Amino acid sequence: MAIIFDEEKRTFSLHTRHTTYQMKIDKFGVLLHLYYGRKTEGCLDYLLTFADRGFSGNLYDAGQDRTYSYDALPQEFPYLGSGDYRSPAFVVKDNNGALDCDLRFDSYFISKGKYGLKGLPAVYADQDQAESLEVVLKDTRLGAKVSLLYGVLPKYDIITRAVAVKNEGGASFDIDKIASASLDFLTGSYDLISFYGRHGMERNYQRNKVSHGVQLIGSRRGASSHQYNPLMILTNPQTTETQGSAWAMEFVYSGGFRGMVGKDQYNQTRWQMGLMAEQFSYPLEPGAVFYAPEVMMTYSSEGLSRLSNNLQSCIRSHVCRGRYKDQIRPVLLNSWEACYFQFTGEKLLKLARDAKDLGMDMFVLDDGWFGKRNDDNSGLGDWYVNEDKLGGKLKNLVDQIHDMGLLFGIWVEPEMVSEDSDLYRAHPDWALTVPGRKPIRSRNQLVLDFSRKEVVDTIFDQICQVLDQVRIDYLKWDYNRSISDVYSQNARDQGTVLYDYILGLYDFLERLTARYPDLLIEGCSGGGGRFDAGMLYYTPQIWCSDNTDAVDRLRIQYGTSFGYPISAMGAHVSAVPNEQSGRVTPLGTRGTVAMSGTFGYELDPGKLSDKEKAEIRRQVAVRKQYARLIFSGKYYRLSSPFTDPVGAWEFISEDGNELLVNAVTLENHCNMPATYVRFSGLPKDAIYKETETGRLYPSNALQQIGIPVPFGMGEYRAFQWHFDRVR
Ligand code: GLA
Repeated sequence: MAIIFDEEKRTFSLHTRHTTYQMKIDKFGVLLHLYYGRKTEGCLDYLLTFADRGFSGNLYDAGQDRTYSYDALPQEFPYLGSGDYRSPAFVVKDNNGALDCDLRFDSYFISKGKYGLKGLPAVYADQDQAESLEVVLKDTRLGAKVSLLYGVLPKYDIITRAVAVKNEGGASFDIDKIASASLDFLTGSYDLISFYGRHGMERNYQRNKVSHGVQLIGSRRGASSHQYNPLMILTNPQTTETQGSAWAMEFVYSGGFRGMVGKDQYNQTRWQMGLMAEQFSYPLEPGAVFYAPEVMMTYSSEGLSRLSNNLQSCIRSHVCRGRYKDQIRPVLLNSWEACYFQFTGEKLLKLARDAKDLGMDMFVLDDGWFGKRNDDNSGLGDWYVNEDKLGGKLKNLVDQIHDMGLLFGIWVEPEMVSEDSDLYRAHPDWALTVPGRKPIRSRNQLVLDFSRKEVVDTIFDQICQVLDQVRIDYLKWDYNRSISDVYSQNARDQGTVLYDYILGLYDFLERLTARYPDLLIEGCSGGGGRFDAGMLYYTPQIWCSDNTDAVDRLRIQYGTSFGYPISAMGAHVSAVPNEQSGRVTPLGTRGTVAMSGTFGYELDPGKLSDKEKAEIRRQVAVRKQYARLIFSGKYYRLSSPFTDPVGAWEFISEDGNELLVNAVTLENHCNMPATYVRFSGLPKDAIYKETETGRLYPSNALQQIGIPVPFGMGEYRAFQWHFDRVR
């Protein structure tokens, strides 16, 4: 049993293979959080302390006892109105405008399998792979029923949380804020690791001490964003990649979010993840239910690599879906950096022939094939083929590409509209705009109001018409601006629009994946502006970044790896000087970096020398050889490309029999000290044989000291060492 309710102590214990999570219903029916960490037995309510705390008010039910205060006790689901003045997870406004709430335990249900969330992505599992717990809290005055949902996947050390709020009363109330997960740590010092960025440089790693006052990350952009990823990790100050405690919260949602951590007056730490509260206000009518999206949580007592492994394998097996979930993805050539908007049908066929000649599996036609779209100022919303530009029907082009033995993919950006488009001219009110105001333009485009069903339906039909014309094997789903001008014509309340927008997006994607089960979809948002576990439920891979510079990519992919599987990271080799940074890196290095992702190219092979072409053929072959190991092996970060002279990372098969270590030098100096790459996660006392040299290495030494990176001239040299275990 993964979930145990102790009738006598009134505790819920959630156990995974290596972790335990515990909460308690106290004598007042208040749900207190007790513990989340290393697996343990017993009742942990001895951790609670009670004292008369000035200016921390007392629960009325406690009578003359001044030691009982919500403000000092660890809460499982803190809310405004309880006398807990720390950051609430739940703010509700009654129909008189009072911000007030009082939630007490009502009932609980334990079931086999994993709960689902209507209209939202969520971790899924078979009956024997997970258990679910629903703890029902009620506010009788409001008529609010709050179901705290927990999913436990023991194998992955994953616990999920979500919240369902039902109005069982006679009057409506507003949800003004809701965090799906809130954790209180009674004691301890913590660091917060989070991932900030910008367009072209997503998911930079940062680690800060958690102190008094709060640290806040999040997005008001309508999407999870380039600026902060919805992933937070807490560690103890001593925690490293391989040692110490680490906890993660990862939001399974693609819209705005708010992540918060801070120390309170008694040095307790509160940590939350949930919906962005600004521009959010959700009126709940009698009988209606609101679902707060899911947060995945995990804990590792063995450092950050283990933590990432938990998240990566759970996402790969229990978030991603569809035919491609476990399949090695086709190596592709994408037309974007090869020719941007400037192409003809002939040019595309030439690119496809080159791709085939170089051993690739798929050709992808990026932006520019539809409507009036010869630059990024027009055409979005008009999803019909520009046959003049292609020199004929799409089917004609695609059939020829299929005949070459290649798969074919195409780019779309369904959520957007250009003012210069037939769609906008016919339905200007379908773009999010505030009446009487000129909207904010970004990339000269506006966002379609996906909170409206008729808008979603119309675009869905348009996209289906394209997909029904001809067999399309892959779709790149792009989203190239942040949302502003949040106003929807039909909304009950403008505070629901951003949430309903995401439900509209998910509805579209759900219908699309159901109708085209063989279609591989790659998510994208100006690169990695919507790289989150919510999107991964529909699109098993996401373009990591518009930045294809191999050195920047080392950092971007390093940051991404903390919360997401390698199989999800869209990564391509592009031309040099790199078109985003101007940097020149060796082709071998670009290949090594992109190989630790879905792998492909976006360049014009016609511009390459024979030597470069030979190198690409080699890369494609190497990648195919190691694809399974890269795709589903355990992944270890061996150094930090932000601070170390070498960026290094490792893949090891589940059984430890096969090993691939990659390294890229980031510094080169005259007369340099040697740098060693230390391996991780190897079985003890094993012997490994390096494939190229046949040389034998003992695992204990590889893990203790590692191997020296060969000296050499020039910057950004890449190495790949492959090993088989011989003992
Ligand atoms: C975005 C994507 C790119 C490319 C362009 C096309 O920026 O991230 O890969 O598809 O759009 O306009």
